[in-house]
Amino acid sequence: MSAQIIDGKAFAAKVRGQVAEHVTRIKEENGITPGLAVVLVGEDPASQVYVRSKGKQTVEAGMNSYEHKLDADTSQDDLLKLIADLNADKDVHGILVQLPLPKHLNEDLVINSIAPEKDVDGFHISNVGLLGTGQKSMVPCTPLGCLMMLRDYHGSLSGMNAVVIGRSNIVGKPMAQLLLGDSCTVTITHSRTKDLPAVVRGADIVVAAVGRPEMVPGDWIKPGATVIDVGINRIDKPEGGTRLVGDVDYASCADVAGAITPVPGGVGPMTIACLLANTVTACCRIHGLVEPEGLTA
Ligand code: GUN
Repeated sequence: MSAQIIDGKAFAAKVRGQVAEHVTRIKEENGITPGLAVVLVGEDPASQVYVRSKGKQTVEAGMNSYEHKLDADTSQDDLLKLIADLNADKDVHGILVQLPLPKHLNEDLVINSIAPEKDVDGFHISNVGLLGTGQKSMVPCTPLGCLMMLRDYHGSLSGMNAVVIGRSNIVGKPMAQLLLGDSCTVTITHSRTKDLPAVVRGADIVVAAVGRPEMVPGDWIKPGATVIDVGINRIDKPEGGTRLVGDVDYASCADVAGAITPVPGGVGPMTIACLLANTVTACCRIHGLVEPEGLTA
């Protein structure tokens, strides 16, 4: 293995420390405690784990956490009423509705009912538009975490060829916008892309976000390239039990890449750290306070 490992776990701890410092300052100087409301509809086990972890880390950073757990058969009207209440609540600076929602709820409608300035996921259509036009916005947490790690490792990303594998609204598309904002030449690839290996071989930066275990082999990677693995996939081990793997084949890619994020311990921990960062940022913007440096795009 020759690649440098980009330690997302350590980086996330640093970001959480910066957030906690800024929270302390806001409390002391302005008497305001940033607050994050997380809404979970139903009992999806993975979502329950994420929501618990978000609440715990929010409190550890010195902020207020408000958890709203609703039954799986909650009506759209009741969910929209809760979001309207949170939009109006002065103690709440960030609102996150955990996805996916049960099938009877309209995800787009629900997300777009969140006040854009409290949309710490950056999924509201206003924030998507602001990011796409290079204006100040709330930035989706996972791509923001990837960008922070890339900037930290490379300094400037200007002029680099970046290939994003996957075109989701949560990761692929906003990731491409952020890389474009940092003056990369960006290609978004997807299931219909012709000769994907050739496209990936031209990349100085590869961001893999497709949710397919170990899909990218080392011989697709340009020697010295930086590989950011967003995938978190649980697979069966031949000897029994399961393990977590990313969207890239770690062993073969680490042989060729210049730097790589591991799974677990790479992008994953950065997502919640960036959610905390976005909550402080939202609080500062709402109250006209100085924003923390280095924690936004
Ligand atoms: N479900 C999986 N990832 C996310 C995320 O980043 N935000 C929300 N709200 N739900 C998710």
